[in-house]
This record gives sequence, C-alpha cells and structure tokens, in this order.
Amino acid sequence: MGALLIVGGSKGIGRALLEMELEKRKVVNISRTEPNIQHANLTHYKLDALKDELPEIEEIDGIVYCPGSINLKPIGSLKQEDFQQDFEVNVLGAVRVIQHYFRKVKKGNNPSIVLFSTVAVKRGMAFHASVAAAKAGVEGITKSLAAEFAPTIRVNCIAPSITDTPLAAHLLKNEERKEALGNNHPLKRVGEAHEVAAVASFLLSEKAKNITGQIWGVDGGMGSI
Ligand SMILES: NC(=O)c1ccc[n+]([C@@H]2O[C@H](COP(=O)([O-])OP(=O)(O)OC[C@H]3O[C@@H](n4cnc5c(N)ncnc54)[C@H](OP(=O)(O)O)[C@@H]3O)[C@@H](O)[C@H]2O)c1
Repeated sequence: MGALLIVGGSKGIGRALLEMELEKRKVVNISRTEPNIQHANLTHYKLDALKDELPEIEEIDGIVYCPGSINLKPIGSLKQEDFQQDFEVNVLGAVRVIQHYFRKVKKGNNPSIVLFSTVAVKRGMAFHASVAAAKAGVEGITKSLAAEFAPTIRVNCIAPSITDTPLAAHLLKNEERKEALGNNHPLKRVGEAHEVAAVASFLLSEKAKNITGQIWGVDGGMGSI
C-alpha cells in the first residue's frame, strides 16, 4: 500500500484528515509549518508547495490538496493581485502538485485525488467574487481530470461552507459571531474540521470506488436549501 500525500496537513481540515489517516496508512505531509504530531506512519516535508521543489515519494495512492483562501471584499476593493493570489494558491498550487505526482498515483492502489472548493461557487455570496472564481476553477479541474484519469485515478472535490479552522478564524472571532454565521445555515451551525475530513477520508477509501468527478457539499445545507 502506498502513502497518502496531504498538502496542508499541519492545520485545519488537512490536520484532522492527517490524524484520521495515520492510524490506517503511511502519510506524507507537505506544509510550511510542522503538524504538531509524531507518528511512525508520518513523514513531513517543510516546504511551500507553490514554490519549492517537491520531494520524490516512492509510492502514492492518493493526494489531498488543502491550501486555500477566504479573501472577501466588495468588487470595488478587489485588485488584480487578489484574483491572482487566489488563483495561485487554489488552482495553480493544486495543478503543480498533481502534475508532479499523477504518474505515481496512477500506479497506486485505489488511486484518488481530493480537492477543495467552497459553497460560494454553487450559491452566489456577496464579496466572494475572487475566491469563487478560483474555486470554480478547482471544480473545473476536478471534472476535467476525473475524465482524463478515468478509469484509474478518481478525482473528487469537497465544497465546505464556513468551517472552524485557522483559515476562518478571522470570521469566527467569538461565540456570538460563530452563532450568527451558524444561524445562516439550514442546520444552524458552523462546520468542524473533522466533519469535512471524514468526507475526504471516505472519498479516498475503497467505499468510494465508484465515485469520481463529484463536488461534495459539506455545508450545513447552505448549497442546496
Ligand atoms: N475553513 C473554511 O471555512 C472553508 C470554507 C470553504 C472552503 N474551504 C477550503 O477548504 C480547504 C482547507 O481549508 P482549511 O480551513 O483547513 O485551511 P487552513 O486552516 O488554512 O489550512 C490549510 C493548510 O494548508 C497549508 N498550506 C497553505 N499554503 C501552503 C503552501 N503554500 N505550501 C504548503 N502548505 C500550505 C497550511 O499549512 P502551513 O501554513 O503550515 O503551510 C495548512 O496546513 C481550503 O482549500 C479552503 O479554501 C475552507
């Protein structure tokens, strides 16, 4: 059995996934800071996935690309650089990692890739123009690569709504704010990292062997109701 490569396993959803997967398999993590966990199954590379040389990994069964952004501004305040930065971290970073490893993943066991979008692609949300544009690109890549890599590598994407992670910390400053944002959702709550990670873990597993090219809402009902 090959390793699972998590890009962004030091924090948030990737960190929750890392903890879940370490009990089952070898995990290679790439992030700029260390995940604060020691485990015989864990190999960590401290690097910037957008710029630094990516390490060679002997055998890989799956890739999960977690870096993302929540850059919310009215259109009058968004600069070209905002769009470029959001595109770089969400789309080009994922492309860079996939291009580097897909040949190895193809030879893996139940090979699979999981990417992250946002509910703001499915449902129009004010001030989300830049991140929604970038994440729409991620959804496009998901479907294109699912077609290109079938029948070997499955490619799926998760579209969360607000989830309690370091990325969303500025929006979830205190309990009142968290409650107010939770109340915008049909399920009246803010998501937790482990809830999103559990869906990623499922999509990587044998149980999801017949699933590819899908965008999975983990959004408290926000995207559909
Ligand atoms: N949280 C939400 O409310 C929410 C909502 C909708 C969509 N999403 C999406 O879900 C995904 C995961 O979000 P999250 O909230 O878990 O994010 P997070 O808390 O910011 O964690 C992101 C992870 O990616 C790593 N990372 C970021 N840039 C990197 C780089 N250049 N090179 C290597 N590693 C890098 C970070 O580690 P280092 O800092 O150590 O490098 C961290 O481990 C993202 O794509 C996000 O857009 C999140």
